[in-house]
Amino acid sequence: MEVSLPPAALTSGVPLETCLRKRRTNRAFSDARLMQSEVSQLLWAAQGISGLGGLRTCPSAGALYPLECYLVVANVDGLRPGVYRYDPDRHLLVLTAAGGRNEKLIECCLDQECAGEGAVSIIVTGAYKKMTAKFGERGIRLAHMEAGHAAQNVCLQATALGLGVIAMGVFDDAALAAALELPESHQPLYVIIAGRKFV
Ligand SMILES: Cc1cc2nc3c(=O)[nH]c(=O)nc-3n(C[C@H](O)[C@H](O)[C@H](O)COP(=O)(O)O)c2cc1C
Repeated sequence: MEVSLPPAALTSGVPLETCLRKRRTNRAFSDARLMQSEVSQLLWAAQGISGLGGLRTCPSAGALYPLECYLVVANVDGLRPGVYRYDPDRHLLVLTAAGGRNEKLIECCLDQECAGEGAVSIIVTGAYKKMTAKFGERGIRLAHMEAGHAAQNVCLQATALGLGVIAMGVFDDAALAAALELPESHQPLYVIIAGRKFV
């Protein structure tokens, strides 16, 4: 099943410097839902197309684009809970596994409770082979660097939208890959939880 996303907004009234200053790790989320427009914006920030020839918001060594973003939906207006793959070229979601995963995310993130509180979670994954074919073993490091770029883009975009966000690197790789039913070619590299802040 495919779900078209609303087009991402290409401007906002929030200056970059404000986002840099206000970005903070948030570990307590409300159970309020997100709008599809907000999810669209977060995914576009992570990996969206922003230039001719398929260039993306995130830089990529050799423009090989080894990253994929998997979206775990818990509470989004009009979207069934489940795991979705973001297709940047068509700016849409492809359902890859039905059903919520927030309880599993807590387990996979070694009992960090906030991992299960997001309205959505973006799991940045990497296909190392795409990079090692050109760069040898160094390709692995390059994929990790790129994941950092993508995560920071999401954190700054979430800040511009007034959402809470946390980038998490402490998780069990194999357990997370199994819980999300990721393809074998893709390693989970970064977990980003987003939602409305608990106030
Ligand atoms: C690579 C990386 C991994 C992180 N992993 C976790 C994590 O698993 N759990 C967590 O609570 N915070 C995690 N954090 C968030 C840091 O604890 C947080 O950025 C730091 O305390 C500084 O606070 P600030 O982000 O509000 O500036 C991670 C941050 C980075 C950069």
